[in-house]
Amino acid sequence: MLNVSNITKTFKNGLFGRAHTLAVNGVSFSIRTGQTLGLVGMSGSGKSTLGRLALKLIPCDSGRIIFDGMEISHFTIKQMKKLRKDMQILFQNPESSLNPRMTINKSLEEPYRFHNTGDNQYLDERIEEQLKFVGLGSEILDRRPHQLSGGQLQRVCIARVLLLQPKFIVLDEPTSMLDVSVQAQVIDVLKNAQKKHAISYLFISHDLDLIKACSNDIAVMYKGRIIEQQSAVDLYKQPKEIYTKQLLDTFLNF
Ligand SMILES: Nc1ncnc2c1ncn2[C@@H]1O[C@H](COP(=O)(O)OP(=O)(O)O)[C@@H](O)[C@H]1O
Ligand SMILES: [Mg+2]
Repeated sequence: MLNVSNITKTFKNGLFGRAHTLAVNGVSFSIRTGQTLGLVGMSGSGKSTLGRLALKLIPCDSGRIIFDGMEISHFTIKQMKKLRKDMQILFQNPESSLNPRMTINKSLEEPYRFHNTGDNQYLDERIEEQLKFVGLGSEILDRRPHQLSGGQLQRVCIARVLLLQPKFIVLDEPTSMLDVSVQAQVIDVLKNAQKKHAISYLFISHDLDLIKACSNDIAVMYKGRIIEQQSAVDLYKQPKEIYTKQLLDTFLNF
């Protein structure tokens, strides 16, 4: 489904852009249809940048991205527009992804209308169907984001993404702002959506338990590189890198 090879990204910052941050340094990975690659690593290791690069939300310096059999590395913004509904992202903070002045209904409709044509009744039915799927009732449709809990907002964001019927979603720490009890429910919704629609996920998290529970394979990121990648089971049993071992140990000792 997705194949990323040797991708690199440098940010220019500091006065006059003289300082450089090599955020992602020659990274390769692939994700099969309906599978999840977990991406774990400390804050600042380049996980979010890699997620955005894979979706072409930001341009890379070099490297190749093949999505659904197409090389999209050199796609223009216009060409990407057609693909955008297939490749989506779910952010950590659902509140910042929703317009505070818009009703939930409007927020759900907007991206769908941007990408699709079709009559209102059809869209209303799809919205109702997706809300039900993510465990929300239609009474929330007239509300605004501040009237909902964090868990409800993230469910709305999931419903909004699912309305587009994407093939690939980057989940960038999708539950790290939520209470632990709510986390598990939201993860269940994401897992069910994957099962139902064979969606591929890049699941970014610093929570090793969560990554383990959700991923087929796990990649460990350190200072802009993927230093180790194996099946979830093997990584926990036999981490190859000392850094991974330390990461596992630190986590277990929390
Ligand atoms: N837009 C940006 N401009 C400049 N530097 C950035 C930008 N985004 C990320 N970085 C830098 O790139 C590195 C990786 O960041 P990020 O991908 O957000 O890591 P993570 O998601 O693993 O915490 C960090 O050093 C960060 O400061
Ligand atoms: Mg991040």
